[in-house]
Amino acid sequence: MIDAVGVRKGFRGRPVLRGVDIIVEEGETLAIIGGSGCGKSTFLKCVIGLQRPDEGSITVDGMDITLLKTEAEIAQYRRRFGYLFQEAALFDSLPVWENVTFGLKYLTDTPRSRYRGIAGDKLALVGLKDIEDMRPSELSGGMKKRVALARAIAADPSYILYDEPTTGLDPIMSDVINDLIIDLQRKLKVTSIVVTHDMRSAYKIASRMAMLHEGKVLQVAHPDVMKISTNAHVRQFVDGLSEGPIKMRLKEYEPPEDEQK
Ligand SMILES: Nc1ncnc2c1ncn2[C@@H]1O[C@H](COP(=O)(O)OP(=O)(O)O)[C@@H](O)[C@H]1O
Ligand SMILES: [Mg+2]
Repeated sequence: MIDAVGVRKGFRGRPVLRGVDIIVEEGETLAIIGGSGCGKSTFLKCVIGLQRPDEGSITVDGMDITLLKTEAEIAQYRRRFGYLFQEAALFDSLPVWENVTFGLKYLTDTPRSRYRGIAGDKLALVGLKDIEDMRPSELSGGMKKRVALARAIAADPSYILYDEPTTGLDPIMSDVINDLIIDLQRKLKVTSIVVTHDMRSAYKIASRMAMLHEGKVLQVAHPDVMKISTNAHVRQFVDGLSEGPIKMRLKEYEPPEDEQK
């Protein structure tokens, strides 16, 4: 279970997360939705220890990551997570199997002789076979995503964090990825957080959805409840309307509504 309480994080004095409370229950897939720049990726990075919150706690399986001090402690903590980066971020100079197993030498004591076999197993889980020796540049966008997903599960994580897994994919490939996320959740019994602004995807894969807006969680609920939310901000976002309380930001940064005079 992941329990984030009062998480605050800013960059150069500019607040991004302004007191985020989120609980992710064992075995669930929580979708975090919200507009571009609202802090979704920043939140994921805080959970995995790539960013350190300015305030608040993030407790995972009873351990507060914000209290970990050394890189070694954080590395040890990170073992339980698989992370699917927004960009597939594969190494073009390495064959697929080495990309999939890239993190193993840091995360596990698995002997290198087993890497190829592990890569084959993980690739099979994401529906790919016989591509171990191909280069990422030879793959389509959807296949790259799947290879990145195989890499995310290479070290058998208990948690998978997905950062916009369907962004940039066509609708059919997006749905293939949605089905894979559901499939992995069932087969591997993982707990997942999926950051997305793809509402179709969120409705399909999430057990609950949390809407982030101006650094705070506006509502957390079952997708069916979000669909009929009475919160005007949530309504506007899930219906994808230009009219509503959420205004397009023209400048890179304007203070949040509740801090404007
Ligand atoms: N390392 C960083 N340094 C400075 N600003 C950052 C950094 N990471 C994110 N930000 C800023 O924080 C805000 C939230 O970013 P992000 O979490 O990536 O949003 P989202 O993923 O919801 O689109 C953005 O305005 C972004 O420019
Ligand atoms: Mg992001």
